[in-house]
Amino acid sequence: MKGIVLAGGTATRLFPLTIVTNKHLLPIYDRPMIYYPIETLASMGIREVLVVVGGKSVGDVVELLGDGSHFGLDLTYRYQAGAQGIAQAIGLTRQFVGDDAFCCVLGDNILRGPALADVAREFEESDQGAGTLLYRVPDPERFGVAELDENGNVIGFEEKPKAPKSDLIPIGVYFLRPDAFDVIGRLAPSQRGEFEITDVLNHYIPDGRLFTRVYEGHWTDAGTVPSLLRASELARDDDAIGRLSPPSERPIG
Ligand code: G1P
Repeated sequence: MKGIVLAGGTATRLFPLTIVTNKHLLPIYDRPMIYYPIETLASMGIREVLVVVGGKSVGDVVELLGDGSHFGLDLTYRYQAGAQGIAQAIGLTRQFVGDDAFCCVLGDNILRGPALADVAREFEESDQGAGTLLYRVPDPERFGVAELDENGNVIGFEEKPKAPKSDLIPIGVYFLRPDAFDVIGRLAPSQRGEFEITDVLNHYIPDGRLFTRVYEGHWTDAGTVPSLLRASELARDDDAIGRLSPPSERPIG
């Protein structure tokens, strides 16, 4: 399986912290934010990773991560001009993905908990078309939100609904296959002008081809000031996902 980290966007919700720098370089406790989604992919046993970069300080992101060899990974990059949503960014990765299944993690998603190798393998060996991890939050209106039937099956996702139909959200971990690129190619932009990942996931629900698992660790995004703080607290308190390499071992330059 291949891995993708999305590290573009303008991060206006974090202004002034992100006026001159890239959100994914901000500190989460003792490491730059982007270390965490890379660790999430590494915890699945993934070694080949594409980082989609955009916005401010793209060169600094590349300087920080390099070719990934000091993490034991093979890293490459793709530039996203503009910020038209998660599905648009994933659409840029077609050549890298080739014929493989892949996992895409949002660059501001912090997971602390069990490694995800079994979940990734289960998806890869299944005949499901797409998948995501679900998590219960107190403020679902900030995210994509699952609608469930009486048996607890997901029957749809709504992006940032005013009246959420549950408190279960798809976190920014997506399992996909190359046919997602055709789905993305047919998407229309949402009301906020973005190509939404929740629309991609919704495509697979009617034929029962959506894979979901409830994530049993701790999760937060880090795209707002309160969640940025929460992410640092989580990283300080719960270290269950293995660190790729201590910051002191990072090569300079
Ligand atoms: C994105 C997705 C949303 C998901 C969230 C998880 O929202 O659109 O469905 O629940 O990430 O972090 P964003 O916070 O980027 O607006």
